[in-house]
Amino acid sequence: MTRFMERDGVVFRPVEEEDKEFLRKLINHENVRDTIGMAPKPKNLKDEEEHVELASEQDDAAYFLIEYEGEKVGTISLENINRDYRRCHLGLSIHPDYHGQGIGTTSVQMITDYAFKDLNMHKVRGGYLEHNPASKRIMEKAGFQEEGIEREFKLVDGGWKDVIWMSILEQEWRE
Ligand SMILES: CC(C)(COP(=O)(O)OP(=O)(O)OC[C@H]1O[C@@H](n2cnc3c(N)ncnc32)[C@H](O)[C@@H]1OP(=O)(O)O)[C@@H](O)C(=O)NCCC(=O)NCCS
Repeated sequence: MTRFMERDGVVFRPVEEEDKEFLRKLINHENVRDTIGMAPKPKNLKDEEEHVELASEQDDAAYFLIEYEGEKVGTISLENINRDYRRCHLGLSIHPDYHGQGIGTTSVQMITDYAFKDLNMHKVRGGYLEHNPASKRIMEKAGFQEEGIEREFKLVDGGWKDVIWMSILEQEWRE
């Protein structure tokens, strides 16, 4: 399985022990929690260690640290990789200090190529919460189409938010 990828200064590499502190900061950042709709309790280092260990050991997930120009900037993953139906779920977080520089756009395009070329997927799915237009935009730019709305999917700041599911199929990716 490919473990390193690079495009336009954006690098994907495996998550290492020494990344845990960065991961904890990323996942606890207010902006990231609000846009993803994390469970209400902030994560501590032990939770994060367990999550990273679980994610890197799993056969049905691919989990990468994103670096940009030598800095750790975020994480990206394909989860729930189903090899019978050849589908998986995309997840992505860029630290807010690095938003708006095209890193998310490049990252979604890279992971989509990886899903179809390397993992032989038929479908990649992703979702954004209704108050997160940047997430919608980067998936659209990679060729994702809207599938539908799932109502009141996550609780953010005491208010329920809908999730809008999007996906791209292998034939659309080839076009
Ligand atoms: C969503 C996220 C990954 C985007 O990453 P990024 O590196 O800032 O994205 P880019 O710079 O490549 O592109 C952002 C696009 O969204 C657009 N955008 C940003 N804010 C917007 C807004 N409020 N309304 C409409 N479009 C917006 C930008 O204009 C840009 O599109 P363009 O290139 O056509 O101009 C990043 O904001 C993030 O990690 N947020 C926290 C976690 C999260 O939301 N993850 C995704 C949920 S599944």
